[in-house]
Amino acid sequence: MAISDNEIAALVQQVLKEMTGGAAAPASPRSYAAPAPGGSIPKTARVAMLTELKKFEVREYPIPEVGDDDILVRVEGCGVCGTDAHEFKVDPFGLIPVALGHEGTGEIVKMGKNVKTDSAGKPVKVGDKVVTCMIFKDNPDITMFDLNKKNVGGADVYGLLPDDDVHLNGWFSDYIFIRGGSFGSTFFNVSDLDLESRILIEPCAVLVHAVERAKTTDILRFNSRVVVQGCGPIGLICIAVLRTMGVENIVAVDGNDQRLAFARKMGANNTVNFMNHKGIDALSGAVADAFGGHLADFAFQCTGSPVAHSNIYHFIRNGGGLCELGFFINGGDATINPHFDLCSKEITLVGSWVYTLRDYVTTFDFLKRAIGIGIPIKELITHRFSLDEMNEALETNLAQKGLKIAYIAK
Ligand SMILES: NC(=O)c1ccc[n+]([C@@H]2O[C@H](COP(=O)([O-])OP(=O)(O)OC[C@H]3O[C@@H](n4cnc5c(N)ncnc54)[C@H](O)[C@@H]3O)[C@@H](O)[C@H]2O)c1
Ligand SMILES: [Zn+2]
Repeated sequence: MAISDNEIAALVQQVLKEMTGGAAAPASPRSYAAPAPGGSIPKTARVAMLTELKKFEVREYPIPEVGDDDILVRVEGCGVCGTDAHEFKVDPFGLIPVALGHEGTGEIVKMGKNVKTDSAGKPVKVGDKVVTCMIFKDNPDITMFDLNKKNVGGADVYGLLPDDDVHLNGWFSDYIFIRGGSFGSTFFNVSDLDLESRILIEPCAVLVHAVERAKTTDILRFNSRVVVQGCGPIGLICIAVLRTMGVENIVAVDGNDQRLAFARKMGANNTVNFMNHKGIDALSGAVADAFGGHLADFAFQCTGSPVAHSNIYHFIRNGGGLCELGFFINGGDATINPHFDLCSKEITLVGSWVYTLRDYVTTFDFLKRAIGIGIPIKELITHRFSLDEMNEALETNLAQKGLKIAYIAK
């Protein structure tokens, strides 16, 4: 009796379910299923599951039936984020076992008949390249394209979802399953961007949003003197966004000379290594010297260090502005002097956290423009790893080697 492929797939699913009580079994080395060549879709997909602290295991799961509103995407790559590293190290969200990776992109290989456009209304078809974005749970009508959102509130994101029967919920995998209907997935067609640019969309959106927040102070202008403190990926992209907007008088501050050299490549016209200046007065003096004897009009705080938050007020002139975006997660308390740092200087302070869907769309244009004017933004991706090497990828990130670490599908 001949058995069809579908029947075999159903049998495999049934057996896996019975063996594991719902959870899929670890992949055996012999059942290795790399993405199928020539556009055919395999029956199973590999996922790098974080199964315990500091341990990814490559597991294999059946690819579910694609429903009328669903999209199956073959993953091409995904950036490693500080949040992934945090989850890898301490699981602060209690998600283990979890399929991580939210800065991902890939190609639509199959989609339901009801899927016609992306979250911005742009048509989509099989073969298009896409990225996912936050899934806003509070009030999608307000947050969707609202520049003035104050906080996204309850948002989910692929790559930080609780594990379920689908399992293909993160971008550190061969395939990701984007669910339609009430699940509320958000995704964008970015076929006009190359792979590296697409991998950089998510972190760049953080800075597009931060600069939009900064603009609400009405202090940031073409000829403003701007300090960017912290030259990790976030601070470096901040410099690129400022340059792309025409802000040219930028001083970068960090303790790492290599990163400061990269800040110059991204467009900072001067740098200060805080390790070379003992005490806050010497440090603020060095920042002023770097601006030719002036303090900054505006500052972006891009480190997760409370001391750095306390320091940055000293770099800003009276009547200047500050955007604090360095604390995606709680990094502890910082001490400031409300009289000297805020009141008497009349500092305008804004906080910034993630982005809106609208910022995402702006980011596509930002990337094209940045590349167009010669900012070497793609050089931010310094290390590339395959799915089997995700433990090494995360260790590389934790060791602060390089800048942006990426998973690239083979
Ligand atoms: N607002 C958001 O939505 C959002 C999103 C993503 C990341 N973040 C936050 O942005 C921060 C930076 O992210 P990253 O990926 O670039 O991190 P990173 O750790 O790679 O970079 C931080 C940089 O700050 C420098 N630094 C540390 N202390 C300093 C000090 N006192 N003065 C000057 N420089 C100092 C370090 O040398 C390092 O180069 C993180 O703390 C992260 O939580 C915020
Ligand atoms: Zn991220």
